[in-house]
Amino acid sequence: MALVGFGNVGKAVSRVMLEKRELFQKIGFEPTVVGIFEKKGSWIDEKGLNLPEILSYGESSPSWVEGANAKEWIPDLDCELIVEMTVTNIEDGEPGLTHFREALNSGKDVVTSNKGPLVIAFPELMDLAEKRGRMLLYEATVGGAIPIFYAAREALLVNKVISITGILNGTSNYILTKMTDEGGSFSAALREAQERGYAEADPTYDIEGIDAASKLVILANGILKIKKKLRDVKIEGISKITPEMIDLAMEDGYIVKHIGYVDRNKIEVMPRLIPKSSPLAVGGTLNVISFETDIAKDITFIGRGAGPRETSSAILGDILYINKIRKENM
Ligand code: HSE
Repeated sequence: MALVGFGNVGKAVSRVMLEKRELFQKIGFEPTVVGIFEKKGSWIDEKGLNLPEILSYGESSPSWVEGANAKEWIPDLDCELIVEMTVTNIEDGEPGLTHFREALNSGKDVVTSNKGPLVIAFPELMDLAEKRGRMLLYEATVGGAIPIFYAAREALLVNKVISITGILNGTSNYILTKMTDEGGSFSAALREAQERGYAEADPTYDIEGIDAASKLVILANGILKIKKKLRDVKIEGISKITPEMIDLAMEDGYIVKHIGYVDRNKIEVMPRLIPKSSPLAVGGTLNVISFETDIAKDITFIGRGAGPRETSSAILGDILYINKIRKENM
């Protein structure tokens, strides 16, 4: 495999792969990382890179190739899987979108944490993957570590998912929780969320609901199988919520939460009043995702929606799933 993007998430995936070597051996998974690509250059060795060395010495490691970039290397690189973890860009999906296309066109499976390409071109990318007989998995893009796509695809396969409701952004949930529990100010809570590494590069994406809307687009396409785009989402952020509004809601037994909702007629994210006892009333940076289904009825998942290590759990889950399927079909 090759890792494209070696920021916090890429590094966490590498570290967890080293940590879980014994488990991998036990289940017969022996990954060889032949390329790690970042902006300024890459580490490349088709016989297999030395991950501990790269994690310790970075660009001083002998496999470093200054200026080598993923776009040029992906098509001919001798590997079966591209793990795409570059930063989300919902303007045009790049550079991830090109990486996805190059990988699928050259017969490689793709696992990603990058929302951008999926928000911009979900149907096109799925068609391409199918045409090329490749898999494109994206568990880490929505709800971080929470295995919702796996659940929908496997355990809940017999169900029709009717609607999905949830808190899809950890940063805005953290801000609202702080304001509710401690009566803190909006800006102080945002600063803390940024310090914890949860916020997007541009935190207005978190606060104004654009990140949550992007995730709704992925849920709509990936689970409800409807071709929604970002412009279809009715979006209202949390920047106008005041401590007074929160206090008033509390007096009546409600809390203010930033709730995403999608069904076949409606797709929206906005502040809503939620009863304190609702399963949706999760605090801190937690995410919650609730499926309304025809057979199983309501199913709610709660967990960590961000954080490099947590996200690596979803990425490695996808990698192991592909490994299993490929082995079964060998
Ligand atoms: N900024 C996002 C959040 C990160 O706060 O949930 C995960 O997509």
